Amino acid sequence: MFADKTVWITGASSGIGEAVAIEIAKEGGALILSSRREAELERVKSLCVAAGAAADKILVLPLDVIDYDAMPGVVARAQKFTGQIDMLFNNAGISQRSLCVDTEMETYRRLFEVDVFGQIALTKLVLPIMLEQGRGHMAVTASVAGKLGARHRTGYCAAKHAMMGFFDALRAEVARDGIFVTTITPGFIRTNISVNALKGDGSEFGKVDKNISAGMDVTECARVIMKGFRAGKREIAVGKGMEMKALLIKRLFPNRLFKMVETMG
Ligand SMILES: NC(=O)c1ccc[n+]([C@@H]2O[C@H](COP(=O)([O-])OP(=O)(O)OC[C@H]3O[C@@H](n4cnc5c(N)ncnc54)[C@H](OP(=O)(O)O)[C@@H]3O)[C@@H](O)[C@H]2O)c1
Repeated sequence: MFADKTVWITGASSGIGEAVAIEIAKEGGALILSSRREAELERVKSLCVAAGAAADKILVLPLDVIDYDAMPGVVARAQKFTGQIDMLFNNAGISQRSLCVDTEMETYRRLFEVDVFGQIALTKLVLPIMLEQGRGHMAVTASVAGKLGARHRTGYCAAKHAMMGFFDALRAEVARDGIFVTTITPGFIRTNISVNALKGDGSEFGKVDKNISAGMDVTECARVIMKGFRAGKREIAVGKGMEMKALLIKRLFPNRLFKMVETMG
């Protein structure tokens, strides 16, 4: 599916973005790898080359998704790489580990800047390129947290619900223009997400928490995502724990779910 495609992945220096990059590299697709840490992106590029990709088919393109001034120039470099952007995988993100009562407004703002406005800004710059191409694929890593609420995640759940809403609405707008939209709702996946999560004062949580360490292996997660892309799914749920059952419970028995999450975490 990706052999003749150019895929731009944000949050490619770690976790889900890294694992999906490697899977795409195995198919021979061209890759644009973005996040803030260039050295980590170079490490991921080496892994992609080891997985079979040609080095000249991988562009390391550092980007802070909240650096709105730099973004148009970065998008221009991305487009110039192969002359096309077939998929934008909006995957960069940070989580939260704090109660609402302890969370500063600045921390909420940061969560929304990175998890919402950064993704929207980049999507808005890439969308005209895809419209001009007459085709394209927008994907976003939302979360189970974009479907239900959980303790210590008021800002993160709000941000991920926003992303689900944004991309569901975008899908309805661009379907007739040949642009496909996929939302991804992972449960607990073993990555650095909790290490990098924000505490109420904005500092890093710095630990792998219990749910994440018991979560799905990230390579397995990437393979489920790839399978979903190949199957043309509009929404991909990926995970292995109780949180995946919670998605169904929320839909069918919302009150039961509300009670369950009151006693969790
Ligand atoms: N792991 C889970 O259980 C889980 C569950 C549901 C959803 N998700 C979502 O999956 C996505 C990937 O997270 P992960 O689990 O792979 O965690 P991760 O290992 O912490 O990776 C997060 C990625 O986001 C990048 N990033 C953070 N802030 C950025 C910024 N301002 N600009 C550009 N890139 C930025 C990081 O790179 P740099 O530090 O190099 O910038 C890193 O590559 C996130 O959107 C997360 O919310 C994860």
